[in-house]
Amino acid sequence: MSPSSPVPVLTIDGPSGSGKGTISRLVAEHLGWRLLDSGALYRAVGYAAGMEGLDLSDAEAVTRCAQHVKIRFQAAPDGGDTHVLVNGHDATDELRTETAGAAASAIASIPSVRAALVDLQLGFRKAPGLVADGRDMGTVIFPDAPYKVFLTASAAERAKRRYKQLKAKGLSVTLSGLQREIEARDTRDASRAVAPLKPADDAVLVDTTGMGIDDVVAKVLAVLQPRPAA
Ligand code: DC
Repeated sequence: MSPSSPVPVLTIDGPSGSGKGTISRLVAEHLGWRLLDSGALYRAVGYAAGMEGLDLSDAEAVTRCAQHVKIRFQAAPDGGDTHVLVNGHDATDELRTETAGAAASAIASIPSVRAALVDLQLGFRKAPGLVADGRDMGTVIFPDAPYKVFLTASAAERAKRRYKQLKAKGLSVTLSGLQREIEARDTRDASRAVAPLKPADDAVLVDTTGMGIDDVVAKVLAVLQPRPAA
């Protein structure tokens, strides 16, 4: 990389439960690149708005909240999951719940909320590189990223994965309820007017249904390999 060339970005977009979070973290660790979990930003805004008692459909109030909220990612001292601090409060556990996901999806459809989070996301692009996990990383935030992946998996498989994750955390959920929520969230995320969930034209599509984590990581890393000349 020459001093003037832009910091490389690998965007990993896709619907909830496609494995983006786990895959992005593993790929970033493998490459020694920074990680942007953009979903956590939307979750944090939804959470902060809830703490302020705001009506999540009040676009002006939620936008003001998105403009002022202080979000900090902090590496866990034990090497575990990164902690997310919202206005100084460690909200890591609260942000993982389905309620936080639904709130995030709702406020993410407000264009001015999305605009308020742009600079924060661009700020993550630092050497030696960035893995950006989200819905619109390759289409809106980093359209010039040299590497783009769109992960998918069937709704049934995504519900199963989510069910296992949440059960392991001791949360009480049902598989059918999760699948319904996932499908509703997909529809909302894909049909919103601003930055809808869709693959960038130049993204490599990877369907992870039935694939193990290691195979998906290998497939994503292969996207960074130079293609043989035709
Ligand atoms: O990836 P996640 O489940 O943490 O995301 C939570 C919600 O945030 C998701 O339903 C849609 C929204 N989101 C978004 O609109 N754009 C992003 N780049 C990331 C998340």
